Amino acid sequence: MNKKRVYSGIRATGRLHLGNYFGAVKGMLELQDQYDCVFSVVDLHAITTPYDPKTLKQNVRDVVLDYLAAGLDPERCLIEIQSLVPEHTELAYLLSTIYPVSRLEDLPTYKDKKAQYPKYVNMGLLFYPVLMAADIMLYKAELVPVGRDQEPHLEVTREIARKFNDMFPSAGSGQVTFPEPQRFKTPAEYVPSLTGEGKMGKSTEGSYINLTDDLKTIKKRLAAVPTDSGELGGDIPATGGVATLFTLLQILNKEDLYNKYAKDYRDKKIRYSEMKEELSNAIYEELRPLQQKRAEIESSFDLDNMIKKHTEICRQVASQTLKEVKQKMGLT
Ligand code: AMP
Ligand code: TRP
Repeated sequence: MNKKRVYSGIRATGRLHLGNYFGAVKGMLELQDQYDCVFSVVDLHAITTPYDPKTLKQNVRDVVLDYLAAGLDPERCLIEIQSLVPEHTELAYLLSTIYPVSRLEDLPTYKDKKAQYPKYVNMGLLFYPVLMAADIMLYKAELVPVGRDQEPHLEVTREIARKFNDMFPSAGSGQVTFPEPQRFKTPAEYVPSLTGEGKMGKSTEGSYINLTDDLKTIKKRLAAVPTDSGELGGDIPATGGVATLFTLLQILNKEDLYNKYAKDYRDKKIRYSEMKEELSNAIYEELRPLQQKRAEIESSFDLDNMIKKHTEICRQVASQTLKEVKQKMGLT
């Protein structure tokens, strides 16, 4: 690996949804040709919130399948399963010793999860951003394709990288050990929830559409999006279910449909059932090729062999970084 490096990961919490796809995977697809990319299934992050050990392996597999179905090409990027590369946790521990607890306690993501799972506030949850920093820094990645919600975590990563570079300077060369990674933004860096409140996410039932949903399921999910009487007129709302429907048309580049329904909205004659029908078709049109590819991969591709090969390459790079870090920190 000698080009600029890219790293990103998605938690192994099941199949990917449109938020993951437009916010993160589209960015990965754009970068895989130009850079040395590692795209991970971060199963160690997935176990910081309540989960079922019986389905975790299948969840990991589902993310890999969705990655490949979406177009990540194992010939052009490395696919990593985080827990198969133990260097992640070792580096995370080392980095945790140079970062204040108070800063972690203040992060909005930690506070949100604490409120969501008050009986599951574990050390791993607090440690989450340090492990994420280690993920990125293990590969010395400079670009990270992720959604807007991950910006606070990237800021932590930059702080840790800066602090490490300051505390443990390279002798002589003047070269820093770690770059400060930047977020690679996709055009849809924030996909709103179908409930009309907050972002689309796996942990909110009724908020998402999976990449593997068939047309009937997509229609059913959209049918539940809250709307209004259709006779309000004025500007298209910026929040709520109606805003979500319009945003999804925009994200799918359906300009004609967007303009048509925006006019209907202003003219107080919008028919949401018809809009939802057309939006369902547009979403399915985008997803159908991925679903076909997923079925082909599932029946003919040797996933285990690919993972084995990619893990070996990942570990070679990861162990070099870890060795360098230990040397600089005075460990042997
Ligand atoms: P997660 O499922 O939380 O591990 O998310 C994996 C990736 O998908 C991260 O890069 C997130 O920023 C991105 N992502 C998840 N939900 C959304 C969303 N609603 N809008 C944009 N990006 C998202
Ligand atoms: N925190 C990310 C999320 O919830 C997942 C993640 C873990 C990640 N490690 C990463 C993303 C490293 C990018 C790079 O979506």
